[in-house]
Amino acid sequence: MTTRRYDKSERVELADEAVHWDLGSSVSYGEYLQLEKLLAAQKPLSSEHNEMLFIVVHQVSELWMRLMLHELTAALECVRRDDLDPALKMLARISRTQTQLISVWDVLSTMTPFEYTAFRNALGRSSGFQSLQYRMLEFLFGNKNAEMLAVHQRDAHAYETLQRALAAPSLYDEVLRLLSRRGYEIPQDYLSRDFSEPYQASKQVAGAWLGVYHNAESGWDLYELAERLVDLDHNFQLWRCHHLKTVERIIGYKPGTGGTGGVSYLAKALELKFFPELWQIRTSCELHGGRCRRRSAPGTTRTPAQQAVRQQQREHPHIQQRLAHVALHLPVEMPYRERGDQVDQAVQALPAPAQAPHHAVGGGERQG
Ligand code: HEM
Repeated sequence: MTTRRYDKSERVELADEAVHWDLGSSVSYGEYLQLEKLLAAQKPLSSEHNEMLFIVVHQVSELWMRLMLHELTAALECVRRDDLDPALKMLARISRTQTQLISVWDVLSTMTPFEYTAFRNALGRSSGFQSLQYRMLEFLFGNKNAEMLAVHQRDAHAYETLQRALAAPSLYDEVLRLLSRRGYEIPQDYLSRDFSEPYQASKQVAGAWLGVYHNAESGWDLYELAERLVDLDHNFQLWRCHHLKTVERIIGYKPGTGGTGGVSYLAKALELKFFPELWQIRTSCELHGGRCRRRSAPGTTRTPAQQAVRQQQREHPHIQQRLAHVALHLPVEMPYRERGDQVDQAVQALPAPAQAPHHAVGGGERQG
């Protein structure tokens, strides 16, 4: 028996590999990926060594955004068609991509303020503020701001693309339409609104999401969708936060090349949320064994009548939603037991579920 040696000097043995040394008429790796073009696109405007890092990090980020947009537009279409499984898969891929986007800050943070100022003048007025893909992502997720269009005036194609995305329903708008089709009460003026206007959080929508969490067992896909959306929002916020902190360590509190106050401008977006109600409801619910339940007083035991009502709630999403709605309107400082009593009174005032068949889960009927 021969023993293989793994000396560092040993070459990779190719004699037993059927390598295609001659590609014949096939496309090559470099041709397929257009590497000649791609790798010729790093053109520093100064002779500074560190400008290459600045360019590559931006280009890599734009490439990841390219993939995110590709996945997001397809996911949006799937949600529109009630085809949730592939949408969930695509949204999960977007989350992973965001992780890559976030990790580029680690590389960029090796740049010192002196290294950056050495080529900053060469950048002129160019800034990430003018990133078409970034703005498209924001619009597609649901952060609409018509003012942002003006900076794209000199590129008619970019301007029109952005204008179309501004006027179209965002991912969140489509998700709310989906909730409505699945029996949750979404206000009509949320289903067909002026989509170019910023989204305003609604207590009724928050109630619908609480319903989704309460009904996780019977509507797992919506529950999963909710968590995927939170992932996306969470990662986007992390990206913004890392950007701000990296900018702060590189340029301090100097204004940006795009003309804003710099860090002070970036800080304004830190609190932005694409899916605000999904964050609001986190204060009003608790998770037990994977299922979300309304907060109740510690040590509370339910009477058989109350248990029957709870059973009804589980089976009928609109009841959950109404309860959530009641709970959301109660002052946060109200003690547990008092909250429980108020919600129980609301349960008793509800009509029997059979009287509202159009609210059934999966009923597929769209509410007017
Ligand atoms: C040395 C590195 C960086 C500095 C100093 C910097 C600085 C800034 C500043 C000051 C702004 C505010 C707008 C302005 O007045 O210019 C901004 C916006 C922006 N930057 Fe950066 N940035 C850096 C790296 C990056 C990278 C790697 C990306 C990745 C694509 C990026 C993407 C963006 C985007 C998308 C905006 C717009 C954010 C918004 O409007 O909410 N930046 N940047």
